[in-house]
Amino acid sequence: MSEKPVVLVTRKLPDAVEQRLSRDYVARLNPDDHQYSSDQVIELAAGADAIVPCHTERFTAEVIDRLPATVRVIANFSVGVDHVDLAAAKARGIIVTNTPDVLSDATAEVAMLLILGAARRAGEGEQLVRTRAWRDWSPAFMVGTQVTGKRLGIIGMGRVGQVVARRARAFDMEIHYHDVRRLEPEAEAGARFYATLDDLLPNCQFLTIHCPAMPGTDGLLDAGRIAQLPDGAIVVNAARGTIVDDDALTAALKSGKLAAAGLDVYRGEPDIHPAYRELSNTFLLPHIGSATHETRDAMGFRALDNLDAVFAGHEPGDRVA
Ligand code: DGY
Repeated sequence: MSEKPVVLVTRKLPDAVEQRLSRDYVARLNPDDHQYSSDQVIELAAGADAIVPCHTERFTAEVIDRLPATVRVIANFSVGVDHVDLAAAKARGIIVTNTPDVLSDATAEVAMLLILGAARRAGEGEQLVRTRAWRDWSPAFMVGTQVTGKRLGIIGMGRVGQVVARRARAFDMEIHYHDVRRLEPEAEAGARFYATLDDLLPNCQFLTIHCPAMPGTDGLLDAGRIAQLPDGAIVVNAARGTIVDDDALTAALKSGKLAAAGLDVYRGEPDIHPAYRELSNTFLLPHIGSATHETRDAMGFRALDNLDAVFAGHEPGDRVA
């Protein structure tokens, strides 16, 4: 590379990632971590060869259309790419990449945390202790659902789903799953495959969602599908909020059809459906599935590997458009 390409980075990235970026590129960083509007992204991208955004910036067809002609690549700091209109990027010849694999362990940890937290009423318990409202102990106090040995249904048995299955086996959970394709027997490791959600759902004492957000999965867990779950089931979502119909989920939590829900992601986050906050049987986290030092470094380096490949004239490893 004779002249270093210019890269707009929309959020504060880990120090080591920003150091490598600044060494290899003309980096336009965001040290104060302001959340940019689409107009600001377009303005700040003037003359840039690449953008490294997060899922907090939306690249609709309209935004992509208004990006400066210099922008050749959008190297996402995320595995999810539902914030980018991939067809529009492709039509404009903009390469789009993501960061798969490196966040599977961290996200699976949070899925397990949600399973345990929702089942064992961890949010309620913590609140009692913190607010000094904890007065007593009795056999009837804070009784929840045991996780050990239960049937866990996994929607989306990709990288994260498979790690969740491995972690859940340590709790003697029985793994049942649905995906668009069946895994090889070795990867399945005894998990039971269901070709349809209709077949899977009645078997799920716990249900955890790990499929991508896309038009076909929007509102996938709706009232009809929740009704197919056994009474007292527990639902967990560490994928994307749009996969769940919030009105249906909150109604099932209110009625007692579902015992609890553990959620890390929400439609319209951080402005979440108000009922989630009001219900006592929800265990709520603020989209921290990949938030570990190790994983955030690895996501940044993976995004930079993709950038490096593009500017060296190679096919990036994680091209999604
Ligand atoms: C991802 O990588 O998709 C995480 O949800 C953070 O954006």
